[in-house]
Amino acid sequence: MERILTQETIKYLGKRVRVCGWINSVRSHGKIIFVDLRDKSGILQIVFTPEKETLYQIARKLKPEYVIGVIGTVEKRPEKMVNPKIKTGFVELYPLEIEVFSKAKQLPFPINTSGYEISEEKRLKYRYIDLRRERLRRNLEMRQKVIHFLREFLIKEGFLEIETPILTKSTPEGARDFLVPSRLYPGKFYALPQSPQQYKQLLQVAGIEKYFQIARCFRDEDPRADRQAEFTQLDIEVSFFEQEEILKLVERLILNLVKELFPQKRISQIPFPIISYQKALEKYKTEKPDLRKTPSDHDELAFCFVVDFPMFEWKEKENRWDAVHHPFTRPKTEAISEIKKNPGKILAWQYDIVLNGVEIGGGSLRTYKKEVLEAVFEVMGHKKEEIWEKFGHLLEAFEYGVPPHGGIALGLDRFLSILLNEPNIREVIAFPKTGDNRDLLMNSPAKVMPEQLKELHLKIVKEKKSKT
Ligand code: AMO
Repeated sequence: MERILTQETIKYLGKRVRVCGWINSVRSHGKIIFVDLRDKSGILQIVFTPEKETLYQIARKLKPEYVIGVIGTVEKRPEKMVNPKIKTGFVELYPLEIEVFSKAKQLPFPINTSGYEISEEKRLKYRYIDLRRERLRRNLEMRQKVIHFLREFLIKEGFLEIETPILTKSTPEGARDFLVPSRLYPGKFYALPQSPQQYKQLLQVAGIEKYFQIARCFRDEDPRADRQAEFTQLDIEVSFFEQEEILKLVERLILNLVKELFPQKRISQIPFPIISYQKALEKYKTEKPDLRKTPSDHDELAFCFVVDFPMFEWKEKENRWDAVHHPFTRPKTEAISEIKKNPGKILAWQYDIVLNGVEIGGGSLRTYKKEVLEAVFEVMGHKKEEIWEKFGHLLEAFEYGVPPHGGIALGLDRFLSILLNEPNIREVIAFPKTGDNRDLLMNSPAKVMPEQLKELHLKIVKEKKSKT
């Protein structure tokens, strides 16, 4: 018999149905045993009475989280027993057959609470149990709704969704790369992308004009509440757009998203304020101002764009200039001598989008003039040969007809965690890593077999323990 969801039973009054799921709770009232069955749609009450001796004996041994299938008749509950809090609260199932698919040990922690009170180590080790929690299921569902909305919106606007490689070459986005050794090319490595930056620019050279991707990015940096080693961006790149048009597109996208999926939220200011970097520092002492009128209000969303960042910042430790965003960002001054002479004074076509004091996205117009890009790399301390070795593919591509282009990436995990009032991004990711970059569920990173290392031409050098 085909299985239906517990929430569908309300359409089958008096009929025979089959439901499957996990036992949420078992309660005895006198001789009657009530089993709440949970599936992805919700909860249904099943009533076992002693008259049905065989079924009743099975029911007596049922425990929470056992997985069962039940065929039974859907009946109206007696008036007094109606539970208006749940959708199936006016029905219950009288079983005719039961099958116990699997038993369950006692769970390491309760799942009928918010979960914030449980140690995160435990929650992440048993994430598959943690995810049974209603709050996390809702977060995953909302995540899908948001991604679905973004896709539909951008496709309607004429964007093409394109997947770019995961095995790629090091991209300078300011973090360390994760490297993947090549088996076929001893001593050579792929890098996991810190973002699809160069590919999305190459797609503009390819004439795509409007690109987007729900892109996984990898950065070997120390995680924090709003950082993970791998995270997801809504990545966008367009040709022939001015900065203002890109900001307007993002604003429209976000306004529509909030209206459709988070109607209870209040947006503090529309259009989103645009503040210069300089002004933000002067007025708010940060480039990520929190413009909420009442910061304790969960449903207030205060967006703003911060623009006119400096192109370069001086890195004291490394004794060199670095790009504030990334080197592909277009300086506002394109006079090469000026860029080389006064790097600290040059502003960039760079913008961040900030929500409630958190940077949820950033982007820029890009340099599409080869000489300007070379000058930027030079200021950053790269030698000419090095520039060609690392970025020759991009410089060469720019010799074959490159449109003016620019883009932005929204950090989806961060954006979602704010929309869902979560304290950190791990609450909106199905399988996040710990604060020190471990996957406690899979137990990774992990050792590999010596044969695998050999095949990859790798040797592990053991650090000598220093004598103390
Ligand atoms: P950027 O490095 O600013 O820009 O990243 C864009 C947005 O991604 C989010 N983000 C992160 N989220 C979770 N964990 C992390 N470790 C992490 N790092 C960044 C932030 C950030 O604003 N290629 C450019 C975009 C462009 O120029 O178009 C880029 O990646 O919300």
